[in-house]
Amino acid sequence: MNTAPTRPRLLIARAIFPEVIDRLTPFFDVDSNQADDVLSATQMATRLVDKQGLLCTASDVIDAPLLAQCHALRICANMAVGFGNLDLAALSARGVVATHTPGVLSDTTADFGFALLMAAARRTGEAERCVREGRWHKWSYDFMAGQDVHGSTLGILGMGRIGQGVARRGAHGFGMRVIYHNRNRLDAAGEASIPARFVDMDTLLRESDHLVLTVAHSAATHHVIDAQALARMKRTATLVNIARGGVVDEDALIEALCNGVIAAAALDVFENEPAVHPALVSLPNVVLTPHMASASRATRLRMAHLAADNLLAYFQTGRALTPVPPLSPSLPA
Ligand code: GLV
Repeated sequence: MNTAPTRPRLLIARAIFPEVIDRLTPFFDVDSNQADDVLSATQMATRLVDKQGLLCTASDVIDAPLLAQCHALRICANMAVGFGNLDLAALSARGVVATHTPGVLSDTTADFGFALLMAAARRTGEAERCVREGRWHKWSYDFMAGQDVHGSTLGILGMGRIGQGVARRGAHGFGMRVIYHNRNRLDAAGEASIPARFVDMDTLLRESDHLVLTVAHSAATHHVIDAQALARMKRTATLVNIARGGVVDEDALIEALCNGVIAAAALDVFENEPAVHPALVSLPNVVLTPHMASASRATRLRMAHLAADNLLAYFQTGRALTPVPPLSPSLPA
């Protein structure tokens, strides 16, 4: 690749590892937002207007009004496996390639999903707050009694790499019976290796002791966990969301947690993040974390390198390595 003077111009929209920027600077004119402020739509348009490449994160909204101002843009490399922040139709209409970072974060995210499941079921957040706030005065037979994880039924909605990772942890580590629902059924060998049983949505809701959401957010999965779905769950159930906030109707979940429709929840993602619904903050039976399921240092570094690899491959060969899949995921009825 010719490195000068016609280097493509690249915007790195949020702070990333300096070593990844160092890899890119020989090949691109880099404008990097190492200050790490989340750029407003106007700031993003101003900085992106003359760029051919963009490295962005799940908190950057790349939509039609922005793209209408950025005619030079050829590739948008999202440093996330999810891509709900990208308007894929608008990108494709303008011939802009969109890429994401599948695979490199699956195990780290599955680890965290399981940590949240344990925390919600065994009430560790609530218990820790109690100790720190000096409210632990005596042992009682039902003090902080939660739900068992070992030997229970683990439900997974969305059986991609992350869902399978959570399922394996449950089946192999905790002797859980795994059921799942997904737009595509795994093949027999895939199901046997976990082992996991494909069920319809109703069975998933009714039989799960712990339900983990790892499904992609799309029009088909928006608010798939609503008041009716929650009402079909066990009163002792826990719900874990490591997918996207929009998969759960947050108002309905708050009602359900207040009224004992389900026992507990753990949320790493929110409908309006980084804003968190004040009612969630005041509820004892929900664990709240700041969209950090992939946040191990090694995995975040792998994600940044994969986004950079996509940019380099695209400008060197015309082909990106991990383009966003063409069809948005949906669930069977
Ligand atoms: C994180 O949420 C991701 O999509 O990578």
